[in-house]
Amino acid sequence: MATIVKIFPTLNMWAEAAAAEFCGIIEAAVAASGIASVALSGGQTPVKVFKKLAQSPWAESVPWDRINWFWVDERWVPAEHEASNFGQAQKYLLSQTPVEPNRIFPMPTEAATPDQAAAEYEKLLRQRISATAKGSFDLVLLGMGTDGHTASLFPGSPLLAERERWVGPATAPTGVKQRLTLTLPLLNSAKNQLILVNGAEKQPLIERLLYSGEDVSSLPAGRLKCTGQTFWLLDAAAAGV
Ligand code: 6PG
Repeated sequence: MATIVKIFPTLNMWAEAAAAEFCGIIEAAVAASGIASVALSGGQTPVKVFKKLAQSPWAESVPWDRINWFWVDERWVPAEHEASNFGQAQKYLLSQTPVEPNRIFPMPTEAATPDQAAAEYEKLLRQRISATAKGSFDLVLLGMGTDGHTASLFPGSPLLAERERWVGPATAPTGVKQRLTLTLPLLNSAKNQLILVNGAEKQPLIERLLYSGEDVSSLPAGRLKCTGQTFWLLDAAAAGV
């Protein structure tokens, strides 16, 4: 249950360090159990890391055939839609690397309703991921919005109180409003969380979350704390240094 904050002087150094952190966690998981499970977020920030992972030297150190890929959240759009989180990961990472299609588990957006899709994905996760005291996913990649949301858990969402369900339908205030998201019990049962944050517009939130000492439990990102290690990876602008 350690929280580790790392700050990098430039965006490029930040992206390289995030890719290296990703590789280190995956290598350790594969060495320990032969397989690694990763859950990816959407948004612009992870794309910078996806691009690094798809390049040398990181691409050579990732055991691509040993990773099962899941999603932290998804917009209620078809996979081909430009706003699809799966589509984005596919474009910048999975299609660029020797990932086997049978190891890719996108959130379903073809079900009749978001409720049904959430139940379907939860069923799949409960078959594939065991949330034991030792942790569930080996790695969860997360971002944070300027309102303090993370995954598709927005401030005030009833899903923040969820204790049982692993996946739920969510509503975003802007953009594609209908979403699916993993809930805090599952996100926080991960062995590792990498929380990726860039840019000066997120600095006031980082100040509140990491340095103010105030009660930040009303902010979804303030409730991230996993079974193992929670890394906040910040560029200088987000850290305000
Ligand atoms: C998504 C997310 C979301 C994202 C933040 C930050 O699908 O949009 O998973 O929680 O991580 O909104 O987004 P940016 O990286 O674009 O700032």
